[in-house]
Amino acid sequence: MSQRICSLDELGEHGSAGFTAKVNGELQRLMVVCFDGEVFAYINECPHIHSPLDFNPGQFLNYDKNMIMCATHGALFNIDDGECVHGPCVGKALKPVQCTVHDESVWID
Ligand code: FES
Repeated sequence: MSQRICSLDELGEHGSAGFTAKVNGELQRLMVVCFDGEVFAYINECPHIHSPLDFNPGQFLNYDKNMIMCATHGALFNIDDGECVHGPCVGKALKPVQCTVHDESVWID
């Protein structure tokens, strides 16, 4: 059953936000990013030492708003595939969460 996570307006273009939702039956911290008209969702957990990515709640992007950044040690991740391309966990990736956009809202399965 789909769960509504947020409205597109809440996110904004090149915006990000954090939520808690059930994924595969377990309550998980999620992050959602809107970038170039597409929406991407990942589990909010850095593959380095498994801490949340956001030091300030809901702030997941670097200064240029073109990469996901871990606030703990500065790892940078591609927004579109979650792969770490800079920092202590290069080659590892964020765990994706399947999401869709309809009715002006972001939904996960
Ligand atoms: S916990 Fe994310 S880079 Fe170290």
